[in-house]
Amino acid sequence: MLEIDKHTLGKIKSAKSVIFFTGAGVSAESGIPTFRGKDGIWNKLNPEELANFNAFIKNPQLVWEWYNHRKKIIHESKPNAAHYAIAEMEKLFDNVSVVTQNIDNLHKRAGSKNVFELHGNIERNYCIKCKTHYDFELDFSLGVPKCKCGGLIRPDVVWFGEFLPKDQYAASEKAARHCNLFFVVGTSAVVYPAAYIISTAKEYGAFLIEINIEETEISSMVDKSFFGKAGEILPAIMEIIRN
Ligand code: APR
Repeated sequence: MLEIDKHTLGKIKSAKSVIFFTGAGVSAESGIPTFRGKDGIWNKLNPEELANFNAFIKNPQLVWEWYNHRKKIIHESKPNAAHYAIAEMEKLFDNVSVVTQNIDNLHKRAGSKNVFELHGNIERNYCIKCKTHYDFELDFSLGVPKCKCGGLIRPDVVWFGEFLPKDQYAASEKAARHCNLFFVVGTSAVVYPAAYIISTAKEYGAFLIEINIEETEISSMVDKSFFGKAGEILPAIMEIIRN
C-alpha cells in the first residue's frame, strides 16, 4: 500500500490543473529500453552515429535501420499501467496535460487526449527538402525512401542539436506556468531544453512530485519523490485520489 503524507495528499486532492512530464522510464515496463542507466541504449550505441542530422546525411540507411528496429519494438509493445493511470486521471482533475519526451506514441495509445510531444513521434515522417509529411508505413524495398521532390524522408523525431517543435514547446511552457501539480515520471531530467519545463513549473509555484526507480538530478528540487516503478505507483496514487 502506497503511503502518502497529509501535505502531499492535500496538494494532490486540491489540484485543478495537472501535468505529467514523462520520459523513457514510463515506457520501460512496456519493454521499451531507456537511454541511460544500467541497460540504457546509449551505453551500447553511439547517439552521434544514430540520432543526429549529419549522421543521417552521411548514412541514412544505418539511421533508418535503427529507427525501424525501434519502431518494431514499439509496435510489439503495449501501453502499461502507468500510461493507463495517466489517461484515467484526465477524469479526476479539471485539466490534465501530458508533456512527453517519448516518441513511442504510447500515451495516445493509452487514451491520453492532451499530449505534447517535445521530441516528435516515430509514427510520423517528413521530407528533409520540402517538409512534405509521410505519416504512414514507408516502403524500404527500394532502399531509403525518397520524397516526390527527390529529398530524403526522415523520421519526425528530434535529434541531438536540433530545435524542439516550437508549438509543442510553447504549449508545454504555457501549461507549466498555469499548473498546480506537476508529476515528473521516469526521466533522468538531464536533456535540455525539455528539462526547462520542470523548472518553469517550479518557478510558477506548482507542487512537484517525482516518480522514478532511483534518485535523479532533480530529486533535490522536487517537493516529493516516490521511488519505485511508475506502473505501480501511478495506479496506487489514482486509487487514493478516487477514494
Ligand atoms: N518507473 C519509473 N522510472 C523508471 C523506470 C520505471 N519502471 N525504469 C527506469 N526509470 C527511470 C530511470 O531511473 C531514469 O532516471 O527512467 C529514467 C530514464 O532516463 P533516460 O534513459 O535518460 O531517458 P529520458 O530521461 O527520457 O531521456 C531524455 O534523451 O536520449 C534522449 O531523446 C532521448 O527523449 C530522450 C531524452
